[in-house]
Amino acid sequence: MSQVTGKALDWKLLKRVMHYVKPYRTTFIIAAFLTIFLAANTLVQPMLMQITLDKYILGNNYNGLISMVSLMIVQLAVQTLAQYYQTYSTNSLGQSVIRDLRIDIFNHIISLRLKYFDRTPIGMLITRTVSDLETIADIFSEGLISIVGDLLLVVAIIVYMLVKDWKLALITLIPMPFLFMSTYVFKEAIKSSFQEVRTQVAHLNTFLAEHISGISIIQYFSREDQEMRKFKAVNLKYRDANIRSNWYYSIFFPVVEILFAVCISLLVWYGCKRILTDQQLANIGTHDNPVTPGMILAFIVLLNLLFRPIRQLADKFNTLQMGMVGADRIFKVLDTDEVAVNTGTLKSASLNGEIAFDHVWFAYNDENWVLKDISFRVKPGEKLALVGATGAGKSSTINILNRFYEIGKGTVKVDDADIREYDVDFLRSQIATVIQDVFLFTDTIANNISLNNPTITREQVIAAAKDVGAHEFIERLPGGYDYNVMERGATLSSGQAQLISFIRALVYDPAILVLDEATSSVDTETEILIQNAIGKLMQGRTAIVIAHRLSTIQNADKIIVLDHGEIKEMGTHQELLKIEHGYYRKLYDLQFNSAGIVKS
Ligand SMILES: Nc1ncnc2c1ncn2[C@@H]1O[C@H](COP(=O)(O)OP(=O)(O)OP(=O)(O)O)[C@@H](O)[C@H]1O
Ligand SMILES: [Mg+2]
Repeated sequence: MSQVTGKALDWKLLKRVMHYVKPYRTTFIIAAFLTIFLAANTLVQPMLMQITLDKYILGNNYNGLISMVSLMIVQLAVQTLAQYYQTYSTNSLGQSVIRDLRIDIFNHIISLRLKYFDRTPIGMLITRTVSDLETIADIFSEGLISIVGDLLLVVAIIVYMLVKDWKLALITLIPMPFLFMSTYVFKEAIKSSFQEVRTQVAHLNTFLAEHISGISIIQYFSREDQEMRKFKAVNLKYRDANIRSNWYYSIFFPVVEILFAVCISLLVWYGCKRILTDQQLANIGTHDNPVTPGMILAFIVLLNLLFRPIRQLADKFNTLQMGMVGADRIFKVLDTDEVAVNTGTLKSASLNGEIAFDHVWFAYNDENWVLKDISFRVKPGEKLALVGATGAGKSSTINILNRFYEIGKGTVKVDDADIREYDVDFLRSQIATVIQDVFLFTDTIANNISLNNPTITREQVIAAAKDVGAHEFIERLPGGYDYNVMERGATLSSGQAQLISFIRALVYDPAILVLDEATSSVDTETEILIQNAIGKLMQGRTAIVIAHRLSTIQNADKIIVLDHGEIKEMGTHQELLKIEHGYYRKLYDLQFNSAGIVKS
C-alpha cells in the first residue's frame, strides 16, 4: 500500500524534475535517441561475428573475411562516436538542469525569513545546494536515460537469442531468474545504506561549517581535544555508512560472476552437444537451422553484453532513487513558504519617518511572548533610545519593524500606514539597520559598503566615509578602499568593522535609522570616532537606537526602558532619572561610570 503511494509520488517528483529539462528539450531528445541507437547497434557486433566465423572463416573466404573485418571496424567507430555524444549530451543535460535548480534554490534561500534560519543548520543548506543537487545531475548522466537504454538492450538480447535458437537460449539463460532476484535484493539493501550515507554527509557538513565558524571559541577555551573526539564520532559514522554500502557490492559482484560462469558453462555444454547432433541431422537433411560454432561465439558475446548492464542496473536504479531522494529534499526547501509575504504595494518617493507601535505583541514561537503590549510613537526626526537588560526584547523590537519577523497582535505603523501595506523591499530600503554583530563579506571595503549596488558610486562611498570619520583609517589600509576584507572581516578590528557598517547605512541614505549598538568596548580614540559617527548617522532622520552608550542615551528625545518584553518607563533622560527607585535610575547607577562608557 505504502509502496503504491510511494511510487505515485515518485512520478510526481519525476515530472517536477522533468520540468527543468524543458529548456534543454533538444539535448534530451538527442540523448534518448542515441541511447536507443546504441542498444540496437550493440546487437550488430555479435551478428557480424557469427557470420564472419561461419561463412568466411570456416568457409575459407579470405576476401569476405577482410570486408567483414572492415565492416566491424566501421560499426565500432560508429558505436564509439555515438557513445561519445550520448555521454556528453546526458552529462551536459544533467549539469544544465542542476545549474538552473541551484539558481532557484539559492534565490529561494535568500528570500526566506530569518525565522527559517533560526531552526535550520547552515551545513544542511550547503549540503542541499551542493551534494544533494549533484545526485539530481546523476539522474540524467547515469540514471533515467541509461536505465531505459540498458533495459532495451537486455530485452533485445534475450529476444534475439530466443529467435536464433530458443532451446539453446532457454538453457543458457536458466540462471537469469536468480540474477534478477539477487539484483533486486541488492538494490533494496544498497538503497537504505545510501540514504544513511547522505544523512551522514549532511551531519559531517553541518559539524564542519559550525566548527570552522566557531574556531576561535574552540581555541580560546582549548576545546580542541573534546571537539576532535566529537568529530571522530561523526567521521566514523560516515565511514561505516560507506563501508556498509561497499560491503553489499563485495557480495553482489562475485554472485554475478558465478552466475555468468554458470551461463557460459551451460552454453558450452549444451551448445557443443547440439553442434554435434545438428551436424548429423543436417547431413541427412532433417535440420535446416543447425547450431554452428559462430552461433556459440555470438552467444558468448551476447552473454557478456547481457551481464554488463544487469551488473550496473541495480546501481543505476539506486542512482535514480538517490537522485529522487535529493530532488525530494531540494523541493522541500523550495516549498518552504517561509518567505516574507510581500502583498503590500505601498511605495512612495520617500518616507517622513514617523513610527507608531500600537499594542504590539510578538513571539518567536507560538505564544511565548517576547514583546508584550508595546505602544510608543516616534515623530519624524526624533531619536528613540531603547534600553534594558539583556534579553529584554530590544533587538526583537527592531526586527519586527523591518518585517524580519511578523507580529502576533497589534499594529506597527510607519507614516500612518501599517507596515504590512508597504512593499517589503521599499520598506527595507527606507530603514537602514546597523545590527549588533557586524558582518563583512570577503570582498573589498568599497563593495562591503555599497553591497555591490551599482547606483552607489565610489564618490558617494568616500563622502560617506569622510562624514563618518573613517576615511583616514581606510586610506591607511593597503589598497585603501580596495583593501580585501578577509572572511567575516577577521582582518579588521571590531571598531573598524563597526565604522564600516555605519558607512554602509549612511550611503543608503534612509529615512529611518535603526541601530543596535555593539556592546564590545573599543579604545578611546575609536570610541570618540564611533560616537561622532552615530551622531552623524542620526542627523536629520528618525532613529531607534538600542543604546549602550550614555552619550547616545542622553541625546535621545525619548528613552524606553524594556524589561521582560514590557515597557517599564518612558521619557527623557532627566525625567527618568527623577523616578525614585525607577528601573532607569537603577540601570544608570549599575551600568555607567563617570566617563559614560560601558563597564564590561
Ligand atoms: N531567533 C529567536 N528565536 C527564538 N527566540 C529568540 C530569538 N531571538 C531572541 N529570542 C528570545 O527573545 C528574547 C528577547 O531577545 P532580544 O534579542 O530581543 O533581546 P535584547 O534585548 O536585544 O538583548 P541583548 O541586549 O542581549 O541584545 C530573549 O528571551 C531571547 O531568548
Ligand atoms: Mg540584542
